[in-house]
Amino acid sequence: MCGIVGYVGDKQARDVVIEGLRRLEYRGYDSAGIALVHDGTIAGDKRAGKLANLEKAIAETPLPPSTTGIGHTRWATHGAPNDVNAHPHLGSTGRVAVVHNGIIENFARLRDELERAGHDLVSETDTEVAAHLLENEVLAGVDLTAAMQAVCRRLEGAFTLVAVDGQDPSRVVAARRNSPLVVGIGEGENFIGSDVAAFIEHTREALELGQDQVVTITRDGVEVSDFEGNAAEGRRYHVNWDLAAAEKDGYDWFMRKEIFEQPRAIGDALLGRHDENGLLQLDEVRISDDELRDIDKVIIIACGSSYYAAMVAKYAIEHWTRIPCEVELSHEFRYRDPILTRNTLVVAISQSGETADTLMAIRHAITQKARVLAICNTNGSTIPRESDAVIYTHAGPEIGVASTKGFLTQLVACYLLGLYLAQVRGTKYGDEIGAVVRELAMMPDRVQQVLDDSGAIYALAQRFKDAKSVLFLGRHAGFPVALEGALKLKELAYIHAEGFAAGELKHGPIALIEEGLPVFCVVPPRGRDQLHDKMISAIQEVRARGALTIVLAESDDTEVVPYADVLIPLPTVPTLLQPLVATIPMQLFACELATVMGHDVDQPRNLAKSVTVE
Ligand code: M6R
Repeated sequence: MCGIVGYVGDKQARDVVIEGLRRLEYRGYDSAGIALVHDGTIAGDKRAGKLANLEKAIAETPLPPSTTGIGHTRWATHGAPNDVNAHPHLGSTGRVAVVHNGIIENFARLRDELERAGHDLVSETDTEVAAHLLENEVLAGVDLTAAMQAVCRRLEGAFTLVAVDGQDPSRVVAARRNSPLVVGIGEGENFIGSDVAAFIEHTREALELGQDQVVTITRDGVEVSDFEGNAAEGRRYHVNWDLAAAEKDGYDWFMRKEIFEQPRAIGDALLGRHDENGLLQLDEVRISDDELRDIDKVIIIACGSSYYAAMVAKYAIEHWTRIPCEVELSHEFRYRDPILTRNTLVVAISQSGETADTLMAIRHAITQKARVLAICNTNGSTIPRESDAVIYTHAGPEIGVASTKGFLTQLVACYLLGLYLAQVRGTKYGDEIGAVVRELAMMPDRVQQVLDDSGAIYALAQRFKDAKSVLFLGRHAGFPVALEGALKLKELAYIHAEGFAAGELKHGPIALIEEGLPVFCVVPPRGRDQLHDKMISAIQEVRARGALTIVLAESDDTEVVPYADVLIPLPTVPTLLQPLVATIPMQLFACELATVMGHDVDQPRNLAKSVTVE
């Protein structure tokens, strides 16, 4: 969701801010704006639509030189995505400019108070109240840092705020509560960003801020405080990826690049986490073995694709550890009063580490004394910071809104967690665990093989470019794969797509089948005879009713051949690991179909990469 950039240094702030906003485009947005401190006042512009609209406006009416500025890409919550509601917002006199990510929940009350005091608010946003309140403080002689602390004490909800005072070019001040914010530490310059992509081309040194903190950046310094004005500290870290990782590298879309990076990403997710005998070493799991042995229930919470990774994890964890494992959407979890104890392990899966629904869910779990372990891709993000333990997925930056390498590396992390629990609790022999680890270690090559054999998918996208609906069927670990395939298609091609457990077909969904309807079918490996045969029955049932079957099955599975209109070969792998290879053709299909349909694959309509509001 909203992208935020702040800069103070000796470069032209306009260029740094616009480039930072470009690198944050992937978060999803519908308007963009910039404010610069110049000659005792604020100069700026803001436009509905893509960043290109803002750049065009700036090209027509250039902004004055400035070395201090802020910028914003807005994902609309309060008010339509138009020029007026776009950020930055100004106070009454135009002295203070503010950008914001999140939702100020008490904004209506504050707006009422301001209007009764004679303020004229021009937008429909919740943000504008913060601009007016900040400016009130500054006009009363308070410096911007103290003004920010005072205003934050009055705000409720989730917010990252970044502000500049037109009469103080020396500083940019930011605050965070429940919304992402990182500081980039440069030499003679400093940066604010929603995430490190905002400043990665300038510095890889970053400062992670804690909850309810205010940060002031100047050219030569960074000062952190709490909302009361007490000195505080952030956590300094080095960003372990560089600018090249945030560029397309010759691919038409980030998503396609990320699909093809998956062999490397899976390799990195496994790196250093097992020895040559398959003994697992998860050093980041800071929950003692004794505590892990006491766990009597696992609950995995997540949203979207991460939720489907959680569904796969349930099959693996229950099978390997015999610990009951529940899977729940984060936004449902908190509101049903779940039963949690000290012996419950809550696993939160989040690529971004900033998904508000998941963050609120882990906070609830923590208040109930459960242990919380995060599976996350983003160093410096909030969910791992607030969890007892973390397994980083090491996928590298995922820029495409549709998760690909993020999802596959989450699966790897879930497998590692399941095997580690089995190792610690002794529910599997070492050689059994070692056998699975060896299979996992072969996955980068197998995933590469699927990518190398993906030619048929491109033709398929051409063939189905006018499809109105596509169904996906799977069983067991193939069921979440079907759901993931359908989600990818909804996100990117904007067509009706649904995933079903194949056994559920006859209980209703089979009524949807009509002549020519494309149905993707994930066939379990033949090692699971019953499941395999039942899946073939399901394929026959839909085909008998006119469906066009696209069958994903082991390359030497001859039994499926008579029922497949299109056959997508998969390498032979254990059933529980099959999602790692079966998901890839679906990712490619969605990416290619959206390309053929002329859609923006990396920034699909209405979507945000990181969903930072509940
Ligand atoms: O960052 P998270 O993993 O917490 O994000 C969860 C979902 O918003 C995310 O997986 C979303 O569904 C993706 N766009 C799926 O492609």
